[in-house]
Amino acid sequence: MQNPIDKIRLTRASRSALFIGIGSSLVLLLFILMGRTDKDLNKSKQTRIDLVAFHPQQVEKPTVEASAGPLAPPADPVTDSQDPKPSRMEPPKLQQYLVPGDISVVSKIVGNKVCAECHPGEHALHAGSGHARTLKPAGKTTVAQKLNGTTVRDTESPHILWQYLVAGERLEAEQIKEGKRTCIPLDYAVGSGEHGMSFVGVQYSTSLQEYTGIEHRFSYYTRSDHMDITPGQGERDRGSKKQEFGDTGRTMNKTNLTKCLDCHSTITSAKKAGDFDPFTIIPNISCERCHGPAKDHVEAARRGDPLEKLAMPLGVESATPARQIHECGTCHRRIDLVSPSMIHEDNHELARFQPLGLQASACFNDGKSGLKCTTCHDPHGKVSNNRANYVNACVNCHQNPSQSKCKVEPKGDCIQCHMPKRTVSEVFEFTDHWIRSPKKSK
Ligand code: HEC
Ligand code: HEC
Ligand code: HEC
Ligand code: HEC
Ligand code: HEC
Ligand code: HEC
Ligand code: HEC
Repeated sequence: MQNPIDKIRLTRASRSALFIGIGSSLVLLLFILMGRTDKDLNKSKQTRIDLVAFHPQQVEKPTVEASAGPLAPPADPVTDSQDPKPSRMEPPKLQQYLVPGDISVVSKIVGNKVCAECHPGEHALHAGSGHARTLKPAGKTTVAQKLNGTTVRDTESPHILWQYLVAGERLEAEQIKEGKRTCIPLDYAVGSGEHGMSFVGVQYSTSLQEYTGIEHRFSYYTRSDHMDITPGQGERDRGSKKQEFGDTGRTMNKTNLTKCLDCHSTITSAKKAGDFDPFTIIPNISCERCHGPAKDHVEAARRGDPLEKLAMPLGVESATPARQIHECGTCHRRIDLVSPSMIHEDNHELARFQPLGLQASACFNDGKSGLKCTTCHDPHGKVSNNRANYVNACVNCHQNPSQSKCKVEPKGDCIQCHMPKRTVSEVFEFTDHWIRSPKKSK
């Protein structure tokens, strides 16, 4: 059975015969990838390849799989374990009660609009955040409007030109190579554009009877306001997965396509767990991706049930330090999702992984200090740049007589010295969440 969209895609495919290559084995994470210019890093090609391989799937010891959010609460290692591990580098032992993308809960998802009625504050904040804008039809973005009609030259293969055209919901990328034109339809814009935006095209393969994807060769970089080679796709970043890369981009098999979109959406398919379905995907990180399905909650609230009946799978009480590391870290990356060989103080690429940083900090103390993401952030809104509030958070704990004090500047801007900005992948700035003495990290 073929639906109309597939048909268009198939026609295009036979025109361009582009999407045949699939057999890729791993999703490489976007934007993490290019090796850093730090002196200590990238001395050898091996380091660069290690950085390219920076992905949850490549943990040396298999640990918990990324799941589709807290639709059922995992055990909390701090409250459930009698004897918490003293080492702060030990991955938390969490149990997963849910298969990734469990769809048995789909009928209980009600959508953000319903929440607005009773939680207008959270709803308004969330609507303006990156979480609510991280996956869109490619043609509907302002970046696509800007690209419409423009041409870009491939800096690594200067004989190849790309021309962009907005076609409704899609962005069409036309490759011009040796006089031949090949059209690649791009369906999704991934990323809000806070740092950048990448484009993904999906394609139904009749032989495999499933969707495959292509991550476009070029991405938009917000700071420099231009299109350039997608991080991880440059010559030097390809590592050993060469077969995934072509001059049109990186091919993704169904698994890799699903993984890519899963961190940027609420569910990727309402039909089958762990699958991708363009008709039932719920894009963006909605309220219920974090809090769990809310149908019962809404019905209880409307009936005027007592407060204890209104608890959500992830609510105020259950959002403990370990739980936040686990849930936020499923996407933002926690220690157990990163290869141990990558975790050392000189690897500033780690600044991209805030939960990992926090877990590695003495301040976190395996969750026992109470430090969590929401100590410093409202999980609903954009990141605040009110420095005084962050400093207050530090001082709140460190003024306690039992805590160590800063001998250098006990009243200064703690963040500037202890949570500095780092340049990641050569172009992006992230805040280092591994709170430590600056002398240790050089
Ligand atoms: C389903 C995956 C996922 C989960 C779970 C998740 N995030 Fe995010 N988060 C993202 C993505 C993707 C972005 C980038 C959004 C964009 O395109 O700008 C992001 C962006 C952010 C930002 C920057 C937002 C802005 O607009 O400035 C903050 C802060 C943040 N997340 C905090 C959290 C916290 C805290 C949690 C846990 C309570 C969490 N996230 C859980 C995927 C996730
Ligand atoms: C393990 C979860 C995960 C996977 C898989 C993942 N991302 Fe992300 N992505 C994130 C998080 C978290 C952020 C926000 C923090 C950051 O930029 O690192 C993000 C940020 C981004 C951004 C920058 C958004 C902005 O403007 O700040 C882009 C672009 C992006 N991702 C594209 C992709 C593409 C394309 C894929 C698949 C090929 C992908 N991501 C796979 C979690 C993920
Ligand atoms: C990125 C994950 C994430 C998303 C998305 C998210 N929340 Fe939350 N929310 C949290 C966390 C974590 C807490 C607990 C905060 C704390 O530690 O106090 C919370 C707390 C709340 C609370 C309780 C506030 C209080 O102090 O009593 C409400 C109500 C709420 N969220 C509603 C929403 C609504 C409505 C949406 C969508 C518009 C939403 N949330 C989206 C993570 C999220
Ligand atoms: C008809 C009103 C109503 C609607 C609709 C509603 N809520 Fe609530 N919600 C409440 C009330 C009442 C409480 C308890 C008092 C409070 O915390 O404000 C509550 C509390 C919460 C809490 C804190 C619960 C806890 O366990 O700590 C979260 C999280 C939350 N709501 C999320 C949502 C989300 C997400 C949606 C939409 C999918 C939603 N609510 C829709 C009325 C509503
Ligand atoms: C929830 C409480 C809490 C908060 C908030 C907190 N810390 Fe800590 N911090 C601790 C604990 C506990 C330790 C370990 C015991 C000690 O050194 O007092 C610690 C240790 C440290 C250390 C020593 C690190 C090492 O490797 O020896 C530094 C530096 C530090 N904190 C700085 C900060 C800064 C800067 C902030 C704000 C960005 C901050 N802390 C916020 C609890 C906290
Ligand atoms: C001790 C305070 C503190 C805690 C705890 C904290 N953050 Fe942050 N976070 C910051 C500061 C400071 C910034 C930079 C704000 C700015 O740009 O002015 C930041 C920025 C961010 C950003 C924006 C991108 C970046 O790196 O600059 C994300 C995403 C983020 N934090 C996620 C998280 C997550 C997820 C957690 C929990 C694992 C967390 N944070 C816990 C202080 C904190
Ligand atoms: C100008 C940079 C700077 C500022 C600002 C600063 N610190 Fe420090 N801090 C340092 C350095 C450098 C060290 C390591 C000193 C040493 O070990 O001799 C340090 C050490 C510490 C320690 C560890 C002390 C110990 O005995 O191990 C703590 C805790 C700490 N700072 C907290 C803070 C807090 C909280 C703030 C904000 C109120 C702050 N610092 C502001 C540079 C700074």
